Amino acid sequence: MPDIRTSQRPLPDHIPPVLRRLSLPVIASPMFTVSYPDLVLAQCKAGIVGSFPALNARQPELLDEWLNSMKEELQAYQRDNPQAIVGPIAVNQIAHASNVRLEQDVATCIRHKVPILITSLRAPAPEIIAEVHAYGGIILHDVINLRHAMKALDAGVDGLILVAAGAGGHAGTLSPMALVGEVRKRFKGLLALSGSIATGDAILAAQAMGADFAYMGTRFIASVEANASEEYKQSLLRASASDIIYSNLFSGVHGNYVRESIERSGLDPDNLAVADKSKMSFADGRSKAKAWKDIWGAGQGVAVIDDLPTTAEIVARLKREYAAARERIM
Ligand SMILES: Cc1cc2nc3c(=O)[nH]c(=O)nc-3n(C[C@H](O)[C@H](O)[C@H](O)COP(=O)(O)O)c2cc1C
Repeated sequence: MPDIRTSQRPLPDHIPPVLRRLSLPVIASPMFTVSYPDLVLAQCKAGIVGSFPALNARQPELLDEWLNSMKEELQAYQRDNPQAIVGPIAVNQIAHASNVRLEQDVATCIRHKVPILITSLRAPAPEIIAEVHAYGGIILHDVINLRHAMKALDAGVDGLILVAAGAGGHAGTLSPMALVGEVRKRFKGLLALSGSIATGDAILAAQAMGADFAYMGTRFIASVEANASEEYKQSLLRASASDIIYSNLFSGVHGNYVRESIERSGLDPDNLAVADKSKMSFADGRSKAKAWKDIWGAGQGVAVIDDLPTTAEIVARLKREYAAARERIM
């Protein structure tokens, strides 16, 4: 695949080496119960960043196995396809006090020299940041507002993922234009934007607003490789943007879910109870996994998702749309 970014314009200096050679400015986001090795490998082979939450590996030992086998497979793929742009792997860590695996999972990632760590909920401890920097890795932290963004930057993260309104899973409420605008006024470094980005046009829009990368999840749930049931995938094809319900009932944190799945669970999507935030816990990823199996997370990007192709086809289409959008407006 030709490298659209580097072939058309020089990259800003603040983009670190690990993100300078991609086929599109896209980081595929980590999705609980959905992003398993098949999807991550397909994303990397298509030349974008592939990612998964560490908690998707049932036990800490499995994370170690996954990282070994994924590294081997990507190295073999690059050897057999020397011209291919192969994206790096990113692992997501839920940096919350209740995640009892955090220390062990971070140690596993450090041992494997995972090039990108994505942290959520709390900014990572300074020791973790130092250890990742020691082998040349970077840490991106996801935030939903300026206050959290400034806290994470103070802690020393390398870049921010801005989670705007309409994002799948845990999401914010701010307009992407407002959020990117106010963070950009204070931070000139690496920014990724998320929230309903599902087309090449929207990737270019994210860059036009001031972000360096689009951070995309929901589009990849509707793919052959995603670890999601056929009903879940099909529901995304039927849903429009207003079928995405914002609630904190299912995990204690506000997030976006498909209306149909809430109805199928016997609940009224228009009258959901409000959860007690203090009950939020990542101590037991498995029982949470069951809740996410029945209640399907997705962002408002469902509005433009009409098919279930392979990840390679999705990325090839995103590239065509991105190029056409540039042509149209530049
Ligand atoms: C089903 C699902 C599960 C998710 N799980 C996680 C997760 O475990 N950790 C995390 O940091 N973000 C998680 N997210 C949020 C995504 O990383 C990302 O912010 C979001 O997908 C971007 O918005 P989009 O889906 O509209 O493209 C999840 C999103 C979805 C849809």
